[in-house]
Amino acid sequence: MSLAALIERIHNRRASISVIGLGYVGLPLAITFAEAGFQVTGIDRDSTRVAAINRRESYIPDVNSERLALVMQSRGEPLRAGPARVPPGLGRLSATVSYDALAETDAAIICVPTPLSKTRDPDLSHILAAADEIARRLHPDMLVVLESTTFPGATEELVLPRLRNANGQAFQEGRNFFLAFSPERIDPGNQDWDVKNTPKVIGGVTPCCLQAATSLYQCVVHQVVSVSSPRVAEMVKLLENTFRATNIALVNEFAIMCERLDVDVWEVIEAAKTKPFGYMPFYPGPGLGGHCLPVDPQYLAWKMRTLNYRARFVQLAEEINFGMPAYVLSKITDSLNDAGKALNGSTILVLGVAYKADVGDVRESPALDLIPHLQEKGARVAYHDPYVPRLDVGRGTLESVSLTETALRGADCVVIITAHRTYDWDWVVRNSRLIVDTRNATARVAPAATRVVKL
Ligand SMILES: NC(=O)c1ccc[n+]([C@@H]2O[C@H](COP(=O)([O-])OP(=O)(O)OC[C@H]3O[C@@H](n4cnc5c(N)ncnc54)[C@H](O)[C@@H]3O)[C@@H](O)[C@H]2O)c1
Repeated sequence: MSLAALIERIHNRRASISVIGLGYVGLPLAITFAEAGFQVTGIDRDSTRVAAINRRESYIPDVNSERLALVMQSRGEPLRAGPARVPPGLGRLSATVSYDALAETDAAIICVPTPLSKTRDPDLSHILAAADEIARRLHPDMLVVLESTTFPGATEELVLPRLRNANGQAFQEGRNFFLAFSPERIDPGNQDWDVKNTPKVIGGVTPCCLQAATSLYQCVVHQVVSVSSPRVAEMVKLLENTFRATNIALVNEFAIMCERLDVDVWEVIEAAKTKPFGYMPFYPGPGLGGHCLPVDPQYLAWKMRTLNYRARFVQLAEEINFGMPAYVLSKITDSLNDAGKALNGSTILVLGVAYKADVGDVRESPALDLIPHLQEKGARVAYHDPYVPRLDVGRGTLESVSLTETALRGADCVVIITAHRTYDWDWVVRNSRLIVDTRNATARVAPAATRVVKL
């Protein structure tokens, strides 16, 4: 085979694809490729996730189980439920814990996590493990794409050497295998932008690598943006997320400054965003959460430290954003104090513990910082989140309570951390005694006797 033959197989959908890591990024991607007509093998080392997929049950809120079930059907196999027939051209997805499929696959896409270690340095173990599994099964004309967010240079410094020396053979990039980096830009919970209509940035190790990866992604995304190297593509992702993290830090600091000036930060932002150019609104909140924004800029800062450079914006933004749960704690304490109460012994009901609205992901959520602080100060803390039935927090586990009038009225303070759309804010305000609203969720609620303290 050759590059031309690989591209031909991609175009006529005879190419097989393996997606390694079936999480928020990998599962929607694997389904999208299957929907485009490819045979896709999803590989995940978590057997419970694999079993769920094989039962046709999605654990990712953005992927409904019916959509999953449709691509899990083999051609000709009768559907259990849902649409009357499999649309023509639909491929098939299977899920497994075994890496064996890599030996036959034409394209392997790595979507494994890239967290931080306890010392907040990059934990690259998942990328290395996936690259090693591919290297053991690398075969001529295989395309490998890294999608996990990582530091600039990771594709060429970590993945490439492993593939070059795969199986004791001399593989050469761009000649008998192809390697590219293409950052995932998915935004969980976003109804408007998905894998298909979000432009895909791709950087190949060589021009042939870029060509192979571009051919693959052009089958599923509306627009491919080619850049000159994987390092550029890696830096694109870090610019995007560092931009968000630093702007959120800026507006968080504005919230703190506005309080001292006795100015409503939300009113300031609403008025500022009427400027049709040169301004883009960001909103303050109880801190930064999720797998990306609190983590990704640290990959950049770590890489820069190895080059004897301090990424100052990253450091300052982290300081401000990570200080927000403590700032919210002081708001709660002061608000209770104004009502003649101490935090010690008060009942606090937290509404929303996910890191952002309308998702069930609690990774790095500010609630995980705030709740232990409240407990340490002697508060009795309960929470409600429609998407998070149980929460491991501090030294224990809490269960989401039923959101009733009694629960609201029984709380000395209701703290809004995540503004899920399912909440009826009028009803929450009418039935609460004191609210600390970190998201301006109650902005449109008619004035009531309840005291609402905003960020
Ligand atoms: N979640 C997002 O919104 C988002 C957006 C853009 C980019 N990203 C990036 O995409 C990558 C994946 O993130 P995610 O949110 O999908 O993570 P996730 O934790 O939801 O899913 C990762 C999956 O990979 C599996 N896994 C880990 N190591 C593995 C291995 N060696 N072999 C096979 N499977 C393995 C895990 O079991 C898990 O199911 C990260 O680098 C992240 O920064 C995430």
